[in-house]
Amino acid sequence: MDAIRCAVTGCLGNVGYNLVFFLASGGVFGPHQKISLNLLEIPDLAPQLEGLKMELEDCAFPALHEIRVGSDPFDLFGDIDCAFLVGARPRGPGMERKELLQANGVIFQRQGQALDRSAKKRVRVLVVGNPCNTNCLIALHNAKTISPDQFAALTRLDEFRARAVLAKKTGADVSDVSPVVIWGNHSSTLVPDIQHTMIGKKAALSCVDEAWILSTMLPSVRKRGAEIIKLRGKSSSASAAFAAVSAMAVMTGQLEENSLVSMPVFSKGNPYGIDPNLVFSFPCRTHGDRLTIDPSMRPSDALWKEVLVSEKELIEERDAVRHLLV
Ligand code: LMR
Repeated sequence: MDAIRCAVTGCLGNVGYNLVFFLASGGVFGPHQKISLNLLEIPDLAPQLEGLKMELEDCAFPALHEIRVGSDPFDLFGDIDCAFLVGARPRGPGMERKELLQANGVIFQRQGQALDRSAKKRVRVLVVGNPCNTNCLIALHNAKTISPDQFAALTRLDEFRARAVLAKKTGADVSDVSPVVIWGNHSSTLVPDIQHTMIGKKAALSCVDEAWILSTMLPSVRKRGAEIIKLRGKSSSASAAFAAVSAMAVMTGQLEENSLVSMPVFSKGNPYGIDPNLVFSFPCRTHGDRLTIDPSMRPSDALWKEVLVSEKELIEERDAVRHLLV
């Protein structure tokens, strides 16, 4: 079995440093699938990158076949099967993710171009660096020879957060809480939707009341990232890395056929009438390593209004980076 080659950008950062160990230990493809890692960081961090390589070697991970390190995406994206685009300026206390757009947008423009030139045409690309939906849009626009369907951003973390909040509220085990749909942007406008969620054998909507959903669940999922920044002094790292690994498992066909997941994907042709040039989180179904948007999950009118607010925010983000879209 050939090794699967994965690139990770920003691998000495908050999320990246955790992600590479999850990956090397078989987090996406299992412990028996060999994996090669192409690790990228800014040139100033070259010595630290060598240190990270040594640490990975010291774990003697059975799945880890080869490690390459460097800073040039045109070189390090050569022949990759999957990419985690993590490297970006992180948000600090009191900031919204979209405030990072101008600083981070150019990074994703260049990385899109590098993917286009160097990666395998069937590469799967997960954008984690914030604001991840719009950074993903920039990357896919700049990778013209790669299908936009092979790109996604990250709301899997929000989905896990929503399941955890529900489990805590109802006293259920989190593994008994089935998927929560996340709509829209990975931002404070995201919309968690539990209309199809089950807790054990019961519909989630019969276990919690609407007032709690609106007054507690919605804001707590939306503000979780900011709350973590306030408490830790830096943004979530291991939880985001874990969610990223899980999202790449979705994108590379590791889930059961027809599983329900929420992923921000390219919105062209979507069945909900959302603007067709965004990366928008929809309820998706897995088909091997492909995702299709499930057209049957339109939420209540009240929640749909919230979804449209998130769409508006994404349109504004996109319009602010028009010059980076080709
Ligand atoms: C999160 O949701 O925790 C991450 O996107 C980091 C952030 O800026 O909140």
